[in-house]
Amino acid sequence: MLATSTYNSISDEELMAITSIIKNRFGIDFTGYEKQSMKRSLARVMGKCKLDSTTDLINVILDENNRFVNSINDLTFSRTELFRNPDVWEVLEQDVLEKLKFKPNINIWHAGCSSGEEVYSMALILAHHNLLQKTTTLATDISTRALDRAIQGRYSNTLVSKFEKSLQRFRPYGQIDELFHIDEFNATVRDQYKKHINFRNHNLISDSTNEKFDIIFCRNVMLYFDDTLKLEVIKKLRQSLKDGGFLVLGYYDLLPEEVEEYIVPYSASSQIFQAKKSETIEVEMHDRRFTLNKISA
Ligand SMILES: C[S@@+](CC[C@H](N)C(=O)[O-])C[C@H]1O[C@@H](n2cnc3c(N)ncnc32)[C@H](O)[C@@H]1O
Repeated sequence: MLATSTYNSISDEELMAITSIIKNRFGIDFTGYEKQSMKRSLARVMGKCKLDSTTDLINVILDENNRFVNSINDLTFSRTELFRNPDVWEVLEQDVLEKLKFKPNINIWHAGCSSGEEVYSMALILAHHNLLQKTTTLATDISTRALDRAIQGRYSNTLVSKFEKSLQRFRPYGQIDELFHIDEFNATVRDQYKKHINFRNHNLISDSTNEKFDIIFCRNVMLYFDDTLKLEVIKKLRQSLKDGGFLVLGYYDLLPEEVEEYIVPYSASSQIFQAKKSETIEVEMHDRRFTLNKISA
């Protein structure tokens, strides 16, 4: 094994070994993540833990005292912000919610919610349209650290002041303290916005969910997945969408062509897709009747 923690010194074989060990030890599968990003993240962890070689890293991963647990959070990328890419929020507000607002209830899932800014941006828009009360929101992430921050909903004042411009765009007459309780250093999301949100630790690759949603956000989560993994995740997300439900991806989430079987572009410039409708077909074989799901446009 090599005695340096720079990412280009981690070979593909070492990367494969390390991700397999993490998978066996913690059940978290990073094997389909894009190689260079994963190597950079592992090198970051090695630097932080002052480890000189990948052998030392493996020893820490296998450590009885679970020393590696905290570092798992460092293997994902958590950058997020309130009303990230405002154009997308405009389509969501003016178009998607217009379609959903007459439903008796609305189910939303933020998969890979990071520290919660995306979830609270949506909550503010829902409240503005009097839809918050009939909306159930699930917000999940693989990173317990990010999730803890999301649950707290406490951000620095500096960060929130950056958001003031976006707030003006969506709530021209709104005030920032409508969403946040502001003190000297922090801006904390008010309970009325938090109470309809269910935060949960969830790994998009290995965990499942039985619920069905009208909108799923999965923005900037698959950036580091390879095409095979992206396709697998899109199939799963499709299964969790109601027919015609909306999938919101990140600007740079490039997808393999095969996803066309499951989702169709709704607003291509905003990376909003719609689930293809699933139809059931009855097939009779050897005197037995089977019901199969068929996906159609
Ligand atoms: C860059 S942040 C995106 C946050 C937010 N969706 C946005 O676009 O502003 C990506 C998040 O995805 C989470 N993530 C990465 N892999 C995941 C997985 N397999 N399952 C669930 N969450 C994952 C990371 O922990 C991180 O918080």
